Amino acid sequence: MTVPFSTLCRKLLYLLPHYGRFGSLLNPYHHLLRQYSFLKTDLVTAADLVSYWQDVFEGNEIPEAQASSEYIVSHVLGAKTFQNLSTSSLSTPLSAKQREQVQQLCAKRLQRMPIQYVLGEWDFQDLTLKMKPPVFIPRPETEELVSLVVDEEYKKKLSSACCKSIWQPPDTFGPVLLEIGCGSGAIVLSLLRKLPQSQAIAIDKLEAAVNLTKENAERLHLQKRVKILHHDVSSSSWECLLPWGLVDIIISNPPYIFHEDMSHLAAEILRHEDLGALDGGNDGMNVIKEILNLTSYILKDFGSVYLEVDPRHPEMIKNWLHSRPDLSLFVSSTHKDICGKPRFLHIRKYGRRSYKRS
Ligand SMILES: C[S@@+](CC[C@H](N)C(=O)[O-])C[C@H]1O[C@@H](n2cnc3c(N)ncnc32)[C@H](O)[C@@H]1O
Repeated sequence: MTVPFSTLCRKLLYLLPHYGRFGSLLNPYHHLLRQYSFLKTDLVTAADLVSYWQDVFEGNEIPEAQASSEYIVSHVLGAKTFQNLSTSSLSTPLSAKQREQVQQLCAKRLQRMPIQYVLGEWDFQDLTLKMKPPVFIPRPETEELVSLVVDEEYKKKLSSACCKSIWQPPDTFGPVLLEIGCGSGAIVLSLLRKLPQSQAIAIDKLEAAVNLTKENAERLHLQKRVKILHHDVSSSSWECLLPWGLVDIIISNPPYIFHEDMSHLAAEILRHEDLGALDGGNDGMNVIKEILNLTSYILKDFGSVYLEVDPRHPEMIKNWLHSRPDLSLFVSSTHKDICGKPRFLHIRKYGRRSYKRS
């Protein structure tokens, strides 16, 4: 039996389901031809390249195709965003070297590498931080955690200024901070910038994170005010966390994702970020509990713990703390993120005397 030519073609297309849609990409020959004819010309402007790579990203179902393409082209031209490009950068054709750079970065994005790793840097609050896989990329909601700590510290300062008639210790030193799980250093370095009298200890169990926080601290000239240690919070030793005595504030955006939810994360995360930064165990609380246990040894009376958590955690943590009166901790306030979900906790330690009384 002879098969009509058109049926054969349809069968071939079925065997190569992406061919019709992504033809120029998945067929290497067409891909090269298209690159040759388009990318080799000396007249390609930033806008042309953005729209070319946006098409390629869309064809490959890369999320945020336009933003990815704009970030990459702008980065190669020395700007942070497409809107920041000068009129002359927009109208001048890119050099062969620049087109090549754009192509190399776009090839990484096609592998679902997060744009922050592709560019090698990212902004958090008013800092530009170096980013390196697999160290966790700071998320925008964590900026709210930093603002919460800063607001609370300002409030404390204001109220202590109002009570100046009562005896106050000299105000030369600010609070001693401890960040548990510093990643790229986003939280601790922002806090050091915003609280100029503070000093900090930052720990992470991932050596790459410790090295990246050190690098970022040096780039921002904050290295003298922070001790950065390769340390696991679940380890039994804690004396190394006390170079300046007991700490005033512990801050953490710990791994808090429920283990069963890990498989639903985006390909960008699953393929490129360290999963140890995200997986909080069966109830998302493995590292949270270690942090709260540690407060017994290293947190001052009346000290604070600030945590970013899953919206299910505030209730779970309140219940857990009720079962652990030995920790002398209580949830002082819960704060919602911009989507209205309870995500940030301020936990405080009773003074020893007030705990015994209650
Ligand atoms: C969600 S990331 C937060 C990183 C950074 N603070 C931020 O907000 O961008 C959690 C960090 O905690 C670290 N980490 C996980 N388990 C830890 C442990 N047992 N002890 C110390 N650090 C830990 C991870 O390596 C990761 O860098």
